[in-house]
Order: sequence, then C-alpha cells, then structure tokens
Amino acid sequence: MTETMDQKHSRRAKRLRENQGIRSLMEDLGKQTGHPDEIPLGGGNPAHIPEAEAVFHETFANLTKDPAFRSLLGDYQAPIGNDHFREIAAESLSSHLGANLRKENIAFFNGSQNAYSYLLNLHSGIMADGSFKKILLPIVPEYIGYADQTISEGVFVANPPNVIQTGKNRFRYELNKSSFDLTDVGVLAISRPTNPTGNVMNLSDLEWMEGKTKEQNIPILIDLAYGNPFPNLIGKEDPIHFGEGRTLSLSFSKIGLPGVRLGIVISNEETIEILSSFAAVGNLAVGNLGVFMMEQLFQKNLLSQLSANILRPFYESRRDFALEQFTLAFQKMGVAFEIHDPMGGFFLWIRFPKLSISNHQLYHLCKDKRLFIVSGHYFFPGLNTDFSHTKECIRLTYCRKEEELARGAQILAEIVASHQAKSE
Ligand SMILES: Cc1ncc(COP(=O)(O)O)c(C=O)c1O
Repeated sequence: MTETMDQKHSRRAKRLRENQGIRSLMEDLGKQTGHPDEIPLGGGNPAHIPEAEAVFHETFANLTKDPAFRSLLGDYQAPIGNDHFREIAAESLSSHLGANLRKENIAFFNGSQNAYSYLLNLHSGIMADGSFKKILLPIVPEYIGYADQTISEGVFVANPPNVIQTGKNRFRYELNKSSFDLTDVGVLAISRPTNPTGNVMNLSDLEWMEGKTKEQNIPILIDLAYGNPFPNLIGKEDPIHFGEGRTLSLSFSKIGLPGVRLGIVISNEETIEILSSFAAVGNLAVGNLGVFMMEQLFQKNLLSQLSANILRPFYESRRDFALEQFTLAFQKMGVAFEIHDPMGGFFLWIRFPKLSISNHQLYHLCKDKRLFIVSGHYFFPGLNTDFSHTKECIRLTYCRKEEELARGAQILAEIVASHQAKSE
C-alpha cells in the first residue's frame, strides 16, 4: 500500500502531507462551525474593525463604478503587476521606506505567502554553480508559513535564541550572536514584528547581522506583514527602511484585507526581475483586485492614517485586554507561565514551564473544549538542538472579541492547571 502511494506521489507531496503546520492552522480557521461555544484564537485573521471596513467598502464601491472595472474583471496583469501600478507603489512607498524607489524595485503577488514561495527558492537549495545554500532563521520561533515552502529539503538552519527575562512572568527572545554562523547560508529571513512571538527585532541587531551578511553578499528577507508602513504594529521600535541587501515584503492582509490576497515585494532590480519569471510560471499574473484597491488607497494616502488612527490603537488595546485576562486567569488557577513581550503584531506567545504534556497535546485538549490555539512546536524550522520552549509554548491571537478572549483565558488556565508537574 505505502509502496503504491510512494510511486504515485512525489517526495515533495509526501513531505507536505506529513508536515501539517500551516495546513492544520488554516483548516482550523476555515472550518469554524459558528457554534456559540467556539473560541477561535488560532489563526492569523485580522480583526473586523468597522472603521477600517468602511474605508475598504468605499474603495471597493468606487471601483465598481469606475470604467476600469471592466479591465479589473476582464484583463490579465503582467506577472508581477503592470508598470502603471508598480510606478504608483514605488512613488508612494519611497517616503515610507526611506529610499528612492522605482517601478523596477516593486513586484506584486497573490499574498506575501505567495511571494515567499518564490523568494525562499530563489536564494536556497542547489545554486546555479552547484553549491547548496541554506536559509538562516536568525531567531526562532519564526513564522510557520516559511517551513515547507522550499523545493529542496533540509534547507532551514536555526539556533536557540538568547532568552532574556524582562519582568515577572515576562521574557523576550534575542539574537544569539555567539552562534551566528553564515556557513553555506544563501539568505536570512525574519518577520518584524515576528509571528508568533510579537518580537520586534531592534535595528542595532539587524545592523549587526548586516555587518556580516554584506561582506558575503547574502540578502536578508524582512517580512513586514505586521510592520511598517502598514499596519505598523511595531510598538516603540523604529521602522524598517529599504536599503542594499534587504528584500522587504508588505501585505494587505493584516490591515484587514486577507481575502484580497495582495503582497508587495520591494527589492533590487535583479531580484525583482527573477521574481517575475517565477511569477509567470507559478501564477501567470497577479490578481487585479488588490492592485486596483492599492491604487486608490495609496493615491489618497489612506493607509498611514488608518494605521495610526484606527489599527494601532485597536490592536494595542486588545493586546492589553488579553494580557490582563490571561494573566488573571493563570494566577487564579496557579498556572506557571511566562509571556513573550508583545511588542507588536497580533499574538501572545505563552510558555508553560511546568506543563506535563506536550504543547501539541494541549492544543488537542483545548480543541476538545472548542478553544482553538496553535501549538508552538511548529515554529522552529531548522532547529535541531534541544530547546525546551519547542514543547512548552503556544500562540494565540488577540484579534477576537473581548468576551471570547476572557472565556478562552478561563478554559486554557483550567486545562493547563490540571496538566502541570506538581513540584515547585
Ligand atoms: C509573518 C507573516 N508573513 C506572511 C504571511 C502571509 O500573509 P499573506 O499571504 O496573507 O500576505 C503571514 C500570514 O499570517 C504572516 O503572519
């Protein structure tokens, strides 16, 4: 039976099937039944914020009345977007990203996930000269969606980060400079803010890494899905600018448009040109809706205002509410816990140091009570050394309603309390 299956499906198909991380997360998100007891704290969906939705609805409605709507429905774009839209993006993003961008620096994709499936393969695996190059994740945990995107196997490398105690029940991951090693590395990838932890790497660490990568001409991919210029959920940290050796990616998803599927890559001309070849083969063309909406949103400069006045205050207040609820519930139930400093993004990353079951088992126990979280073990691609956090941490979103967060906190605290090692 297995033999027949193995003849029918490729090794890559088998690998994808065995690694259920991103699929299980997205399926949980898509399978919500609407049962009143269900608490979906698993996925990365943005919140439905009426003020933001009003801006998007108006943009969409304007498009349907525009003569160009015929083209939106009835014409293909170029693989990474028509020049007209790339020019608009270059002009609009230049001031936000501190660089003089041209259309040759811009490429559009059907979501930034789609962009990464090309970017990661462009810089890793078997190189044109026959060498084999890897992807270094300078700090793990890192975004679950990068794992398994590569055609080559065994491509990710990572080392345990430094774990810094930042307060009572609080910690932060920091770059481990002593284990930083660029041997056989073709590219580095970081999300900033980081999904799942809410970490926002400081610019001095980024610049320290660039001191090393630039010597060897190794690019750094910086995923700004939650970062600047929109939705700009970066707390007190400085924004990222474009510059030599950096490939940046932006997404329309976390501003509230995940269904539109627009991702934007900003990079040097050569990388953009190669991405266009990948996109032509993989996508034929980027979808029209995102770029048409982008034109309106950029030309009216709506996203900076939206981020500053609506999105950031909303997510910061939800974060504070979630922190309070989970902290209170854990304390009430005598749960040992530590929360990563939630500096930005959508998530709380919580460690239970006395958990007597694995985080994956904890996920299933929560699911039995209709509470959806994500087990942390998925977020360590390339880490082959023992690091207790891989089994002790979970991620949950604070994008949901306050009432759901409060109920979720109770349920999680009760389950963890009954599965902790007793000794002090
Ligand atoms: C860090 C990060 N990067 C990229 C993505 C992909 O987003 P999209 O393809 O919707 O742009 C996500 C989605 O959750 C994410 O969290």
